[in-house]
Amino acid sequence: MNDLMPVGEADYTDADFQRVQQIAREQAGIHLPITKKALVYSRVSRRLRELNHASFHAYLDFVTTPAGQSEMQKLICALTTNVTSFFREKNHFEHLETVVMPQLAAKVRTGKRGRLWSAACSTGQEPWSIAMSVMTAFPDATSHDLRILATDINTDVVAQAAEGVYSAEETEGIPSGKKSQFMEPSGDGDYRFNGPIRRLPAFRALNLNASWPIRGSFTAIFCRNVVIYFDDDTRERLWQRLAEKLEPDGFLYVGHSERVSCANQCGLIQVAPTIYRKGL
Ligand SMILES: C[S@@+](CC[C@H](N)C(=O)[O-])C[C@H]1O[C@@H](n2cnc3c(N)ncnc32)[C@H](O)[C@@H]1O
Repeated sequence: MNDLMPVGEADYTDADFQRVQQIAREQAGIHLPITKKALVYSRVSRRLRELNHASFHAYLDFVTTPAGQSEMQKLICALTTNVTSFFREKNHFEHLETVVMPQLAAKVRTGKRGRLWSAACSTGQEPWSIAMSVMTAFPDATSHDLRILATDINTDVVAQAAEGVYSAEETEGIPSGKKSQFMEPSGDGDYRFNGPIRRLPAFRALNLNASWPIRGSFTAIFCRNVVIYFDDDTRERLWQRLAEKLEPDGFLYVGHSERVSCANQCGLIQVAPTIYRKGL
């Protein structure tokens, strides 16, 4: 341990970057190409400063010991990219509202269970957008067994998502009618989701590349803008597992630059550039 080091002064070698690459791959399935070397430095050096480590070497030795387990979680959080926004890729929410919800509402009205999954939910804009679409299409959704599971590997963003509080700037993507219906001002110019909508999402930490302690299947899964961080094999394995978790006729939404390469083998039919339906 050393005195607090200013950013830019911690020792950081190629071997250190390779150790971070290996940790990211083994712990989260995240592939860090060499082009991310400087980004890794800027993100991880903050952790070093907080713990007063003078070198990446010493820090990485620490996180790989039993005593460093909770710091390993913080390192994984630091390596994730959490960019998101409300109603990102708006066509997915229109599809959810107009195609999925009428059938799902009819199903849960008969007493059956209905589940939707935001599988890399980041700070929550995606699951809360799903919740607003659900409530718009089906105002008494919360009187039925209908829930949204929202998960992410990053425990910090999951905690923020569960709070459901956003700055005025972050809420700009929410249509004004929905914003006034589902949110209330919460001091300091922020807005908070309020009322029955809060009962729809359940937030949990979950690594998509580990085991999933999740029972039952989903009518729709949003897995968007996360597989871009994985290598091809990890991506294909994930598509396969997600397809298995979909109900027949259920939908998988992927990010704008993503495609399910193994759609046929997974039993998925592409119905729009980034929307797949599971065959019956
Ligand atoms: C760019 S954000 C996408 C958020 C949202 N799905 C969207 O499209 O706006 C990617 C998210 O994937 C999460 N992530 C990365 N690796 C993961 C993994 N192995 N399991 C679960 N989530 C992961 C990150 O923590 C991050 O919050």
